[in-house]
Parts: sequence; C-alpha cells; structure tokens
Amino acid sequence: MTRKIKIFDTTLRDGEQTPRVNLNSQEKLRIAKQLESLGVDIIEAGFAISSPGDFEAVSTIAEHVKDSTIASLARAVKKDIETAARALEKANKKRIHIFLATSPLHREYKLKMGKEEILEKIYEAVKYGKTLMDDIQFSAEDAMRTEPEYLAEAYNAAIAAGATTINVPDTVGYRTPTEIFERITYLRENVKGIDGVDISTHCHNDLGLAVANSIAAVEAGATQIECTINGLGERAGNTSLEEVVMILATRKDKYENLTTRIDTRQIYPTSKMVSLLTGVATQPNKAIVGANAFSHESGIHQHGVLANPETYEIITPESVGRDTNSLVLGKLSGKHAFVDKMEKLGFSMDNEKIDELFAEFKKLADKKKYILDEDIISLVTGDAGKF
Ligand code: KIV
Ligand code: ZN
Repeated sequence: MTRKIKIFDTTLRDGEQTPRVNLNSQEKLRIAKQLESLGVDIIEAGFAISSPGDFEAVSTIAEHVKDSTIASLARAVKKDIETAARALEKANKKRIHIFLATSPLHREYKLKMGKEEILEKIYEAVKYGKTLMDDIQFSAEDAMRTEPEYLAEAYNAAIAAGATTINVPDTVGYRTPTEIFERITYLRENVKGIDGVDISTHCHNDLGLAVANSIAAVEAGATQIECTINGLGERAGNTSLEEVVMILATRKDKYENLTTRIDTRQIYPTSKMVSLLTGVATQPNKAIVGANAFSHESGIHQHGVLANPETYEIITPESVGRDTNSLVLGKLSGKHAFVDKMEKLGFSMDNEKIDELFAEFKKLADKKKYILDEDIISLVTGDAGKF
C-alpha cells in the first residue's frame, strides 16, 4: 500500500533562524509561491507573534498561497495561539504549530516547570487551538533527549486534546539513525491514538545526520518530514528538502511504496532563489544542488559519462531542474539561448520583459568571462551584479 509522505517546509521559519538571514514579507512571499509550485504540502510561514514583520509575512502568504497548507508557529500560550490564528485567517488551508519543550534540561533550566505542569499546558494549549481551527500540530521540543515514557505521555496529552500531527524534533541534532528508528517505533507502540495522526520528524544537522535521521524516522513509520531548502536553519541547519526528496525518488527499489507531491524539476530553481534571497551560498559539493553535483572532472569519469551517464550519475540533472545543455552563455549568445536558459531556470515572461533583460544580459556579458545561472537569476530578480 502506498504511504504518502507529507513535506513540511520550514525555510521561512526555522530556515530564517540561520545566522544573519533576514527576509522581508515580499521576499518570503516569493519563496512561498515557489514552494507552492514545488509541491510542498505545508509551508511554515513564520512565528506570527515573534514580530510585526513575521505577522505580516504569515498573513500575506496565507492570503496569496492557496495550494499548500500554511502554518504558523506558536508557544503553548493562548496569546501566541490566538495571534497565529489571526495571521492565518485568510488561508485556504491552515495549521497552528504549537510547541513546548519536554526534556529534563529544558524543564529544569528553561521552563522551570515540573512534568505534570507541562502535560497540563500541552493539553490546554492544543485544546484551545482546536477552538480556532482543526489542523493542530504539537511538537515536543527536544523530544529526542526526553525520557521515552514521559515523551509518550506528552503526546498522549496532545492527541487527547485533538492534535492532528505530532512532531518529534531532534532539536540539537544529537541522535543517530538507529536511535531515531527506535524512538519512533517506541512511540508508535506506546502513544494512544497515534495511528490516527501524522507522525512528523524534525531533525537538526549538528552532527551532519539530519537527512539520514529523517529517512530513519520515515522507515520507522513517520508520515511527515520537516525540512528546509538547502538545509538552512539554526546552527548547522535542518534536514535538506532536496536530499530527502531525492532519496525517496531515486531509491524507488527500496522505498517503492513511499510517495511525495514534490515536482522534483522545481528543486534547482527553488534552491537558487532561496540562496539568492537569503544571501547564503550553497557549498559546491552539496548533494543535488551544489555547483559540482553533476560535474565530472577526471578523464575516466568523463569517458564513462559520455558513453552512458548512468556509469557515474544516479540522478539526471534534468530531473531536478538543472540544465545539461552544454551551451555556455556569453557575449556572443543570441536571444534563443538566453530564453532557453531562463525557461530552464523556471522563469517565464512576456516579450517586452525578455527584450529588456536580454539588453541587460548583453551589457553584463561584455564585462564577464562566463555568465553563470546565478547571473541570469539576479538579472530576473533585479539584483544584477551580485555574483
Ligand atoms: O528544533 C525544534 O525543536 C523546533 C521546534 C519549534 C519544532 O524548531
Ligand atoms: Zn528546529
């Protein structure tokens, strides 16, 4: 039987917590529109109560993005939950994402609360959220460093109050894949009503295991992956959307019954847009979206790839929206090649705009040896000269 894996993208919330990243509402809306085209199921648009700017971003996205569910983060307090609901008013499909920490360290040093008090707060917060909308997600922050028995009680409380998704974050990226597998299995065996809700995984990358841990969670039965474009996020970041999606898509022999709604051809244009708007470049050897991910340097590899690309490529560049066209754009290139490149990067526009951009492109080509994809994107987005 097919199991649908929901993709919950948190580029605009956890991803924006990347040091030195700050997006305004219009930039967030552009990214959200692109995430919608990518086929993301749930877009976490922000943390509505955290600032007037975040409130505006959540409500603007809620108004203009209709295919994806729009989520706002909220602490387990009435004011946060009510503010999230107000920001989401215009959304077609909406979700409040309530979180409260459960681990011993957080209980003692951050919350200064006992176990019972936390369970009551979870129940009350989710119950209140349910009076405002149906779709409520509960996250036990630092779940993976919480005692398993107590964690199960926390999720029991959330589900009893009406949570429709329970998220199990590895907040500090501490666990290994086997441990994640065991913890999700434990929860499936010990939380009441868990079969009726989505189980979500949210992994941080402090030890470089976020993607592997998310896949382990899915193998253990999770039905939602939380991730970000280019793996952006607090500290070392979050699970990278492009990697988890392409693992499931490429290893159909292993994950034949698992599907996502992601249009993989939109992956590269989305990655480029996020990189440009956040100012965070992707490392060249980054899987799927890095500059070198489909380059072959050694003669032996080049020979093999020319004979049959499958000798050294397990994914086709086209399947993730990358251009394999060997045409290199430069000052002698014509309009056809320019338009072809723009379309491959996911842009379409009227003839007048094309003429205007083509003229700009010619000026730039006079100054630069090579025209990179980044140059074309920055021309289209009005940020020329950035690269
Ligand atoms: O890492 C984390 O625990 C979070 C929660 C708010 C889900 O980002
Ligand atoms: Zn997080």
